[in-house]
Amino acid sequence: TQPGEQPGEQPGEQHAARPERRPTARTVLMCRPEHFTVVYRINPWMNPAAPTDTGLALAQWQVLHDTYVALGYEVLLIDPVAGLPDMVYAANGGFVVDGIAYGAKFAHAERQPEGPAYMQWFREAGFDVRVPDEINEGEGDFLLVGDVILAGTGFRSDSRSHDELARIFGREVVTLRLVDPSFYHLDTAVAVLDATPGREHIAYLPSAFDAASVAVLQERFPDAVIVTEADAAVLGLNSFSDGFNVVIASRATDFERQLREHGYHPIGVDLSELLLGGGGVKCATLELRR
Ligand code: ARG
Repeated sequence: TQPGEQPGEQPGEQHAARPERRPTARTVLMCRPEHFTVVYRINPWMNPAAPTDTGLALAQWQVLHDTYVALGYEVLLIDPVAGLPDMVYAANGGFVVDGIAYGAKFAHAERQPEGPAYMQWFREAGFDVRVPDEINEGEGDFLLVGDVILAGTGFRSDSRSHDELARIFGREVVTLRLVDPSFYHLDTAVAVLDATPGREHIAYLPSAFDAASVAVLQERFPDAVIVTEADAAVLGLNSFSDGFNVVIASRATDFERQLREHGYHPIGVDLSELLLGGGGVKCATLELRR
């Protein structure tokens, strides 16, 4: 055993300053996939000709819901609206920090009615709702890490929404450009593992970004977990972490191992039906920060 190594570790493993992982309480908003199906194609995952099983989607979603409840999270529900099959992807319904809910303005006509439906829910729940001027798809493209908001653009959210975000929340917004249509939302290419200021930790897929954005990520998050293409391809990054427990796609087996090595507690769930719409764990989860 070399100086600085813990007994039982492989020589050469880097565990220099691995922080102790701690879960913190979460409140999330979810939407039951009662009307889930795939009838249009707005991302490469969606194939309207392939059958979907709404019953299976409901059962798989229920497992995710019950996992959050078992972890002690407060889980709130918005009523699904008939004719809005993508409403289950609650992450796109807005971005909520400090009790302020910045509403979504969807890029595609098929999802546009979801924006007002979510804003109505935020209002009734007592949030300070800001109606967006710019096209943005909420927490699908905006991720809070420490005091900074990582903001994706390239496919859905317009980069002008990043300026709107910065004005509304008074926080630094870091623009990241997505270049691979399979990873069209930021939350398909970045997982926030620890958002606590001073302990920021993420995982990401470099090939989903342009070179300038990769450089930004490397500089800001030198100790980030780099996931395999195979895990990203099952939307493994589309996960939800409370700082210790990380709910992930059960098929993302390398990511699961990487998380364990970094001191997290991965919990695999199977959302194969929601994957047919191009979404996973995180897409089905909107964090509410009061
Ligand atoms: N079918 C939906 C769409 O293309 C999936 C949204 C996934 N959500 C997410 N946060 N990545 O808009």
